[in-house]
Amino acid sequence: MTPQVLQHQHLAEILAIEQAANAFPWSLKNFEDSLRANHQAWIFSDKDSKIIGYVFTQHVVDEIHLLNICVRTDFQGNGYGRKILDHVISFSEQQSAAVILLEVRSSNLRAQQLYLQNGFNEMSVRKGYYPAAQGREDAVLMAKDLALFSFAI
Ligand SMILES: CC(C)(COP(=O)(O)OP(=O)(O)OC[C@H]1O[C@@H](n2cnc3c(N)ncnc32)[C@H](O)[C@@H]1OP(=O)(O)O)[C@@H](O)C(=O)NCCC(=O)NCCS
Repeated sequence: MTPQVLQHQHLAEILAIEQAANAFPWSLKNFEDSLRANHQAWIFSDKDSKIIGYVFTQHVVDEIHLLNICVRTDFQGNGYGRKILDHVISFSEQQSAAVILLEVRSSNLRAQQLYLQNGFNEMSVRKGYYPAAQGREDAVLMAKDLALFSFAI
């Protein structure tokens, strides 16, 4: 599953994946704005070129912000999320970033588990950060420190 730089032509396919996988999906405009802002984004496809997942990141000074990571619903639970996250970690190390940061819904235990198993730690909680079915939901801010890696080389 080789990463490929995400381009505008992929947006219709990833929008459908996004809408099926999230109760509060990014809109087409969110995706377009992210590409326009030159965020780094990749798709991951199977051998038939069907998109299995994608990720959007933003490089801010020495921080990589993980903005959106998603695996199509019928492929979840098969290790693809971990592979996509591995790519983000490798990319961040290549960029000599000090840290990878992300926010995740407090109810999204699956994603939190993925991050915890890959070296992320919980930093803080942002109260009422996300819209929810009823009211608002907290965000857990998580970080993976890469400074030791940079120091070691
Ligand atoms: C979160 C997401 C990217 C994970 O991708 P995935 O391909 O399903 O995950 P993987 O199969 O690589 O699993 C990686 C780890 O996630 C956790 N996980 C996977 N499925 C799980 C489940 N059903 N319940 C709890 N944890 C689970 C496990 O820790 C797993 O590691 P393990 O297999 O060694 O136990 C995917 O579920 C997804 O796209 N969800 C919708 C969008 C989303 O929530 N994005 C994150 C926003 S912050």
